[in-house]
Amino acid sequence: MKNYKNVFIFDHPLIKHKISILRDKNTGMKEFRELIEEITTMMTYESTRDVELISVKVETPLEVTTQYKVPEESVAIVPILRAGLGMVNGVHKVFPTAKVGHIGMYRDEETLEPQEYYCKLPDGIENKTVFLVDPMLATGGSACDALDALKKRGCKKIKFMAIIGAPEGVSKVAEAHPDIPVYVSTLDRQLNENGYILPGLGDAGDRLFGTK
Ligand code: PRP
Ligand code: URA
Repeated sequence: MKNYKNVFIFDHPLIKHKISILRDKNTGMKEFRELIEEITTMMTYESTRDVELISVKVETPLEVTTQYKVPEESVAIVPILRAGLGMVNGVHKVFPTAKVGHIGMYRDEETLEPQEYYCKLPDGIENKTVFLVDPMLATGGSACDALDALKKRGCKKIKFMAIIGAPEGVSKVAEAHPDIPVYVSTLDRQLNENGYILPGLGDAGDRLFGTK
């Protein structure tokens, strides 16, 4: 894969540790859900080094000092349904008051083309930093379409976070949306003929919600 300026692959040792448990087919639904949440919290922490702060006056027991805070209402979370839902609590651990929008996408199993079936976003989202989240970045179709949908609705500052990325999908998003930072915990080898990531972890939505 090419080196893209807007792609950040974490390869953090603690995230690697958790991803190896996540991949294991014997990891059950509860643990899978908890791991997705924990990894997302770590990714959020890592991907917010450039977050804007405002200065505030704080009175300590000794004196008044100028300190820095994240402005209220400055962040929104948008999971791509369904599997992105598993990442919402992980971002909320860092930004507890972030409002949540939802974009529903499913991949047509024959064509692998994403279909948008739902979109509901919080008022004022165009002025917020939006964390678009989905654990799997496979062909990149869902992420590209979700980014188009957010941009069409006026969002200007978006960060896309996926836990596992395939080179095909990461390249597609990086090239279609060079203005969007793409954060991926780990880059896998390739897609198989059904569009599944190898080695991957299987179907993230099914493993999160126990549907298969
Ligand atoms: C999965 C995953 C992504 C998409 C990635 O969702 O959660 O949204 O596939 O694939 P792509 O990069 O090739 O578009 P899926 O369509 O299985 O729906 P689900 O989350 O409802 O299970
Ligand atoms: N969606 C998933 O849930 N898993 C994959 O490997 C690819 C797309």
